[in-house]
Amino acid sequence: MNDLRKIVILTGAGISAESGIDTFRSEGGLWEQHKIEDVATPEGFARYPELVLGFYDMRREALAKVEPNAAHYALARLEQEFAGDVLLVTQNVDDLHERAGARHVLHMHGELKSALCGACEMRSGWNATLSDRPPCPICKAPMLRPDVVWFGEMPYQMERIYAAIREADLFVSIGTSGAVYPAAGFVRDAKDCGAAALELNLEASDGSAWFDESRLGKASRLVPEWVEQILRP
Ligand code: OAD
Repeated sequence: MNDLRKIVILTGAGISAESGIDTFRSEGGLWEQHKIEDVATPEGFARYPELVLGFYDMRREALAKVEPNAAHYALARLEQEFAGDVLLVTQNVDDLHERAGARHVLHMHGELKSALCGACEMRSGWNATLSDRPPCPICKAPMLRPDVVWFGEMPYQMERIYAAIREADLFVSIGTSGAVYPAAGFVRDAKDCGAAALELNLEASDGSAWFDESRLGKASRLVPEWVEQILRP
């Protein structure tokens, strides 16, 4: 594509799988080990606060033991070297894009390394546990929760994301099953607005039919190959 100026990239759990982070819907994945309604809804948090805080503490601790993989590094390189605009939108709550060097990442489902105060509603960078009910650094109330978007809550940065999708020449979806909206609908929005759409995933996703092209395989191979193709056409 010669007149490629604006790229919007959506990533999901599959891009971090080879770093050692469990995906959600694979065999043995997180949603087989835990009930979504218990650990990823406001109602679950109200009913089982210790379980929920412990679940996210465990995932935050696991994050400290993993490293970005070749797919994260390739996207960081694309962001730095591409002459046009690249917007990186992730559903992931890990920080592997940033640790690979990406500078502008929109975490639409929040971040493990952030805490949200149930009292003052402010967000604070967070690297420790929450299950011991530490005080909010801002208002001191011991009401911090993980700053992750649960089912039934509004994802972050939607206006910015839709504005970028409307302008995009190319929409690329990487490592996501296309099972969760609104992210699963981005490909249709992008197509409606005239963008080309490319999917890079281990297997065909729920929305595969919407993409102009699907490349199937591991992100650590597919993403660096695609980035190379964009930077050196
Ligand atoms: P899923 O677990 O639903 O899907 C992961 C996708 O990655 C699957 O389609 C896999 O085939 C693919 N995959 C696995 N390993 C891969 C690899 N090495 N290379 C490329 N692809 C690979 O995860 P998400 O689509 O990210 O939301 O899930 C979306 C949302 O559902 C999450 O953000 C989370 C979850 O419930 C909330 O918690 C709000």
